[in-house]
Amino acid sequence: MTADHITQALWSATTAFKTFPQLQGDIEVDVAVVGAGITGLSTAYLLAKAGKRVAVLEALKVGSGTTGSSTGNLYAPIDERLSSIESKHGEGAMRAVTDSRTAAINFIEERVREFNIDCEFNRVPWYLFTTPDSSDQSKQVEKELDAARKANLPVSPEPPAGFPYQVDAIVNIAHQAQFNPLKYVQGLASAIESDNCRIYEGTKVMDVEDGEPCVVKTQQGTVRAKQVVMATHSPKGIYAVHTAMEPYREYAMAVRLKGELPSGGVYWHVVKGQHHSVRPYSNAQGNFLLVLGEPHVVGHKEHNEECFLRLEEYMTKHFDVDHIVYKWAAQNYKPADNLPYIGTSPTQHNTYIATGFAADGLTWGTVSAMIIQDLILGKENEWASYFSPTRFTPAASAPKFLKENFHVATHLIKDYLFYGDVDQLKDVKVGEGKTIEIDDEKLAAYRDEEGKLHVVSSICTHMGCVVHFNNAEKSWDCPCHGSRFSVEGEVLEGPAIHNLAKPDTTKND
Ligand code: FES
Repeated sequence: MTADHITQALWSATTAFKTFPQLQGDIEVDVAVVGAGITGLSTAYLLAKAGKRVAVLEALKVGSGTTGSSTGNLYAPIDERLSSIESKHGEGAMRAVTDSRTAAINFIEERVREFNIDCEFNRVPWYLFTTPDSSDQSKQVEKELDAARKANLPVSPEPPAGFPYQVDAIVNIAHQAQFNPLKYVQGLASAIESDNCRIYEGTKVMDVEDGEPCVVKTQQGTVRAKQVVMATHSPKGIYAVHTAMEPYREYAMAVRLKGELPSGGVYWHVVKGQHHSVRPYSNAQGNFLLVLGEPHVVGHKEHNEECFLRLEEYMTKHFDVDHIVYKWAAQNYKPADNLPYIGTSPTQHNTYIATGFAADGLTWGTVSAMIIQDLILGKENEWASYFSPTRFTPAASAPKFLKENFHVATHLIKDYLFYGDVDQLKDVKVGEGKTIEIDDEKLAAYRDEEGKLHVVSSICTHMGCVVHFNNAEKSWDCPCHGSRFSVEGEVLEGPAIHNLAKPDTTKND
């Protein structure tokens, strides 16, 4: 396989971005929505339609966060499996999951039609399957088949003709969907922007105070609002929910095949400990086959680049790959009890959160918009109680909750006790990122390809853990709650609001 790829998501590399203005000065609205991904824009659409004055505040560009790094798959089942929801929470919760997610896919299809959004939306089947070499995992596929039947999904235990893998066990669910997620949110943002739905890009939120009104401070001005919706994937700042989620990084690539693409569909190939998610996609630039997989907890991997190599091996083994065109990574937050957290923030009155989507965020983000709209408008919502962030599920949450908080405690102790990869800045080689302590200052140093050092504080501005270097994406990643920073210390994603501090960089080089 040749590898003339660029490290960028397929969507951002092939989609034209529209520009939205930056906030200038102070404003007052009914609802401030923080984040212009699928969650924020769907919420803004619904609330503006209901007559609310809405402002959407986006630090970067519309859809440039996790929405633009996803695979563009829309499906009623979930990454953590419907069978796990049934066993942890009962059949009612499982039905709430599939009903709400099916409604979300319909909602997206309706918006595509309403606004004539050119985003290659197609109805396709979703498959979860094992092959002969992963048949030891077939039991989980059979359990999922039972769960999908109970949830009344349009399910079959057979692959269609021409299926591109030899199958051992399969769940085949009809009428799911795929689209280009970035074109969708760009189209949605353009369609809903109006006098009572303002969209601001390049407007970074620095602080949110819950109250009457809520006060949202940005670098460009202050927004006063009756309600705030934190639609930033993981809420920005300190929230109890951060202790109940594990942040994961997954890797994706888009390749060109020598022959034909498999037919449209969401292909989840179960192998030991994970599944690879494969989908075909075609646009004016040609035909691509996308794969996503090789997850690990953020900041817990020594050699992130290996994840891309394993994806490449996987694709070469199963398809006649010509070359890699794009590769990128995406983040997700797995909730402790396998259900997302959608609704009023537990310690606040007028702030709403939507998080814990695992790898199913495009659909959960849309479900969140429907639920939060009803909560703000004071309407009943049949799914809200299942996903409420105030729910108390100690038995269902315990294993992951304990694991996540053990990780955080371990990192806080171990990373401080055994701090420092190198003793001197000159020991940091080209392409490497290392932690170092100089004059009692804990630093993170990266040497770029030209030999220039980039030195920032290694202490995460969220809650003080030590950041770790990600050698695939050249970033500093926090192992505690998943904040990520550029080598210059700028926040890339996660709950941290403030950049890593800049020390005196001239020391000891
Ligand atoms: Fe919470 Fe870094 S993300 S301490």
